[in-house]
Amino acid sequence: MIAVVGSCNVDFVIPVAALPAAGETVLGGDHLRTPGGKGANQSVAAARLGSEVAFVGRVGDDELAPTITTALSAAGVDLTWLGCVPDTPSGIALITVADGGENTIAVSPGANARLGVEDVAEAAGLLAGAEVTLVQLEISLDVVEATVRAAGGLVVLNPAPARGLSRELLSGVDVLVPNRSELGFLAGAPEPVSVDEAVALARGLDRAVVVTLGADGAVVVQGDVVEHVPAVAVEAVDATGAGDAFCGALADGLARGESLVDATGWAVRVAGVSTTRWGAQGGMPTRADLR
Ligand code: RIB
Ligand code: NA
Repeated sequence: MIAVVGSCNVDFVIPVAALPAAGETVLGGDHLRTPGGKGANQSVAAARLGSEVAFVGRVGDDELAPTITTALSAAGVDLTWLGCVPDTPSGIALITVADGGENTIAVSPGANARLGVEDVAEAAGLLAGAEVTLVQLEISLDVVEATVRAAGGLVVLNPAPARGLSRELLSGVDVLVPNRSELGFLAGAPEPVSVDEAVALARGLDRAVVVTLGADGAVVVQGDVVEHVPAVAVEAVDATGAGDAFCGALADGLARGESLVDATGWAVRVAGVSTTRWGAQGGMPTRADLR
């Protein structure tokens, strides 16, 4: 069983030729309104691969909430710990996606910011029994800390979006899964360009780290083990949620007892396929799709 404690949003996505610069207005194509949020995306990714997944989070009491809950239940995610916050909007993300798949994302957390430590306490039994607990940073840091403390199995933290983390929080994390810019932020260094630079920064974090590198795949740094897994060649249309596909698949592999390196190989494949389809959750492949 995988427990995910995190965010759920509705994404408003505009396809554009090129990403708008500050102060610039660009005209795009028809918008898509799709379920998103890093927590929900990672839950759907793992569930599509056949893992048993429970999601701990909050929607608002608005007309957007059903878009979020319908997608999670369609993927088979256990929603026992998904609550609704009165008089509060659901989380949303405003996303532009350029030709080639690159994006910009602005998130309004709404109900996600109201998930509290008392809600984590209610899920204590779930977190104590989960093989893997997966968490990101689109919810309050108190909640992330409480989750890490309550988790009985492996704790995987996707530190996205990048935020300052206490030593105590980090000490409870078994596997960190940053992208290049999040790794630079955590290490207090410029964003690593080469794989070697990423490895050097990851070493300094003093725990197992899997750095996602987009078109360069991913690199695992675990004690003396350093393993670079190259990306699979794909025609990307929308990279939104690729990091989430990666984290969901990594958790799926780890929950099945795979080594971190094997689970990373699996996650690189799943993330690659996810970029060939539109929408964060729309792109998440099933186990059968990957055969
Ligand atoms: O990681 C992609 C996700 O980030 C989007 O679905 C958006 O909702 C934001 O949470
Ligand atoms: Na996608």
